[in-house]
Amino acid sequence: MKRPVIIDCDPGTDDTIALVMAFAAEELDIKAVTTVAGNQTADKTAVNGRKIVSYLNKDVPVAQGADKPIMRPLVTAAHVHGESGMGPVVLPEASIPELEIKAWDLFYKLTVDKGEKVHLITLGPLSNVAMALMKYPSLQEGIEGITMMAGSSGYGNDTPAAEYNIYADPEAARIVFDSGIPITMVGLDCTHKALLTKEEIDSMASTPGTGAKLAQDMMNHIYGFATRFGFDGAVMHDPSAVAAVIQPELIKTEPYHVVVETKGKYTTGKTVVDVMRVTKKEPNVNVALDIDREGFVHLVKRLLKSYES
Ligand code: BDR
Ligand code: CA
Repeated sequence: MKRPVIIDCDPGTDDTIALVMAFAAEELDIKAVTTVAGNQTADKTAVNGRKIVSYLNKDVPVAQGADKPIMRPLVTAAHVHGESGMGPVVLPEASIPELEIKAWDLFYKLTVDKGEKVHLITLGPLSNVAMALMKYPSLQEGIEGITMMAGSSGYGNDTPAAEYNIYADPEAARIVFDSGIPITMVGLDCTHKALLTKEEIDSMASTPGTGAKLAQDMMNHIYGFATRFGFDGAVMHDPSAVAAVIQPELIKTEPYHVVVETKGKYTTGKTVVDVMRVTKKEPNVNVALDIDREGFVHLVKRLLKSYES
């Protein structure tokens, strides 16, 4: 049976690849895509989300959410994702409509309101999810679990201590981590190992006009960027989280107690992972520590290939 999911994202170059993969996966039934301010401003990520879903020809609602973090000003990642949020890629105008409904209301409508459970995949700051949990305390009953691209057990990428999606809205992240919803955190421990070499990118399916070509263009862009920063390949952050939902055995996780630092002088946005279990607190997060890189590459190739038929 297909797994019902909602994808909350801030497209975003790697978000785009993750969406292309998710829409190709027979394992997933995508109920909605929601967008949040993050890599770019809320208006831009919303337009990008609608453009991507239109380009892929999918009849799935795309709803906009928070235009800023719940308690602080927005810090975008425009230096990584460009002015439009899509790097060098220019997509045609969206054909699917802009919706009135906000992301958090759609979460509720598609889950508790319908008496159904959905898995949430988050690829951006957690502002929409926190807003939803504050507005609808019963929402937890409708969220079977959250798999998020977020955090790390050690170093950061936006600051020395913090990964971008947590750093951008740490108060929201704290609400989500404290919610009791089962969480799988696919963070830098894992995503920095999910690298694609130039040869692998070149060997991906890439018929012009397809989702495969869109993903390949983004991979090439990320490859150039990541290798300038010393990586041995294109870093697949958001695609790793989607892969972990499609094929959970690709990632190795450990249950740990995790809290989010919101007030550190140097450490705001850090996911403090109790690896040595010194607090003796119950684990609240399955922390992804490793990924089967070969298996991941195989999955990405399979998904992109499906756009060729
Ligand atoms: C995360 O930050 C964003 O810039 C990427 O899209 C990804 O979700 C990586 O830290
Ligand atoms: Ca993202």
